Amino acid sequence: MAVWLDLTLVEERLKTRYVGRNLLYLTCATSTQDVARVEAQRNAPEGTAVLAEEQTGGRGRLGRSWVSPAGKNLYLTLVMRPPARHLRVLSIVAPLAMAEALEEAAGLTCRIKWPNDVLVGGRKIAGVLIETDLAGAAVKYALVGMGVNVNFDAAAESEIADIATSVRRELGRDGSREEVLAALLNAFEARYTDAQEGDAAFRAWRSRLETLGRRVRATLGERVEEGVAEDVDAQGSLLIRRDDGSLVTVEAGDVTLRA
Ligand code: BTN
Repeated sequence: MAVWLDLTLVEERLKTRYVGRNLLYLTCATSTQDVARVEAQRNAPEGTAVLAEEQTGGRGRLGRSWVSPAGKNLYLTLVMRPPARHLRVLSIVAPLAMAEALEEAAGLTCRIKWPNDVLVGGRKIAGVLIETDLAGAAVKYALVGMGVNVNFDAAAESEIADIATSVRRELGRDGSREEVLAALLNAFEARYTDAQEGDAAFRAWRSRLETLGRRVRATLGERVEEGVAEDVDAQGSLLIRRDDGSLVTVEAGDVTLRA
């Protein structure tokens, strides 16, 4: 049974100055990314959050879909307007904020698979999809889509049962979506501020990376790179040491962790 969010509980816990202060709450959307794009084009203030109880066309990275049943999880998109030099920090800040929120609100230990999948016990609990609209080199807006598996029965979703988890699967009982949401918005604003002022957010993200030191295969369209994930650079790109000893920088893509 779907239980709708209690937004009063969220508001009571919210400590932000602007993130989530303008919140659009929908029972159903194709994708919160689509609704947020329209809001952004209408000059919605930075930090506007679009949240849906259900998505009929939830999207993941790399053209995948995102399982989005009603009243169980969190599906939200933040409208951000970073200066171009800070655009890439969003893909560090978003997974970090989700990991910190899940720890604070549900007591889970979260790791990050480069660049921005949040894992618990090796299974994915949350993901990030960032879509941007540019005017030349300037950023008109960035849509930071975050999906957090809170109370759906991940083990019963046949296509993702082996690779996905949720707060409910980890704890054996339901978690509070309101607490996770408030903690997420709070952590997002705090870490976004950190990321513009120094390297605290970068270091916190890096220290959670499950990927470092592991053998990986990175796929970027047609290109495949295999080797050991040695480190990340200051922009968040992955540095892979190939078997021939050379080092390659991977800015974006999909990474599989090898045995
Ligand atoms: C991924 O890990 O592949 C990214 C998943 C992103 C899912 C969220 S849910 C809210 C927002 N709306 C979408 O359609 N996708 C993102």
